Amino acid sequence: MGNERKGTAFITGASSGIGEAYARRLAGEGFDLALVARRKELLEKIASELEAAWGIKVSVLPADLSLREDVLRLEDFIAKAEPLSFLINNAGFSTAERFIDADIEKLEKMIMVHNLATVWLTRVAITKMIGINRGSIINVSSIAGVYPAPYNAVYDGTKAFLILFTEGLFQELKLAKVSGVKVQVVCPGYTRTGFHAAIGVERDIPDFFWLRPEEVVNASLKALEKGKIICVPGALQRITTSFLLATPRRIRYEIIRRVER
Ligand SMILES: NC(=O)c1ccc[n+]([C@@H]2O[C@H](COP(=O)([O-])OP(=O)(O)OC[C@H]3O[C@@H](n4cnc5c(N)ncnc54)[C@H](OP(=O)(O)O)[C@@H]3O)[C@@H](O)[C@H]2O)c1
Repeated sequence: MGNERKGTAFITGASSGIGEAYARRLAGEGFDLALVARRKELLEKIASELEAAWGIKVSVLPADLSLREDVLRLEDFIAKAEPLSFLINNAGFSTAERFIDADIEKLEKMIMVHNLATVWLTRVAITKMIGINRGSIINVSSIAGVYPAPYNAVYDGTKAFLILFTEGLFQELKLAKVSGVKVQVVCPGYTRTGFHAAIGVERDIPDFFWLRPEEVVNASLKALEKGKIICVPGALQRITTSFLLATPRRIRYEIIRRVER
């Protein structure tokens, strides 16, 4: 299957949803995989299915990204991966409650998983990728990182961080004339995964406004090929985002408050 040629795609949050969709898509393209999440059994199930279907090698790396010692183990894996083709920082969760009611430890974990783990893993991965002038880093943010919603202030902040972090990396790669390493931040809107059920929220959002995880992944990889730094999957989501960003803040805040009430 030419795995030496393709290399390894390292994906966090690969046990379900968007991360699993990246894993399935890249397995089909012949990449070896390194799959990270806490639910080991789910990762093992996905791994054996994809190994059998595509003849690739899948490493299952159970880890809690809110724990520094777990991330250190992952950094070690990345440092040894030859070659590392993708780092996809996708793991994440939300809380959907008022900031003053939220469990502060959960919020700290969110910052660890969304931001600190991403920074640590990216540092090791991008150093390797620059060395061989090849590889792609995809950070999964959210439309929530573009404009702020109530009941998710820390989530929004961590997702906004990912956008500026990725853009900053892009600027550094450009200045250093590293042409073979790509970075991208993906900002999905509502996507049908376990994400909303996990926080017990039923969204009263029309069907046509939801994306499937495969659509997010297709849009992301297509945009990556074109060298786009920020990817908002879905035509409707792109139009809505552009419209909201073009409205005065006062009106934008009011619209978002009404939708997210
Ligand atoms: N669904 C949406 O509407 C939506 C919209 C915009 C952005 N996003 C973003 O998309 C990304 C993927 O979410 P999803 O929608 O695919 O939801 P999901 O199905 O719930 O997937 C979340 C993934 O993150 C992993 N994860 C969570 N906490 C972790 C931790 N402490 N350590 C390691 N892994 C952890 C979960 O694995 P384990 O539980 O097995 O650890 C799971 O694989 C997230 O970053 C989310 O913010 C989602």
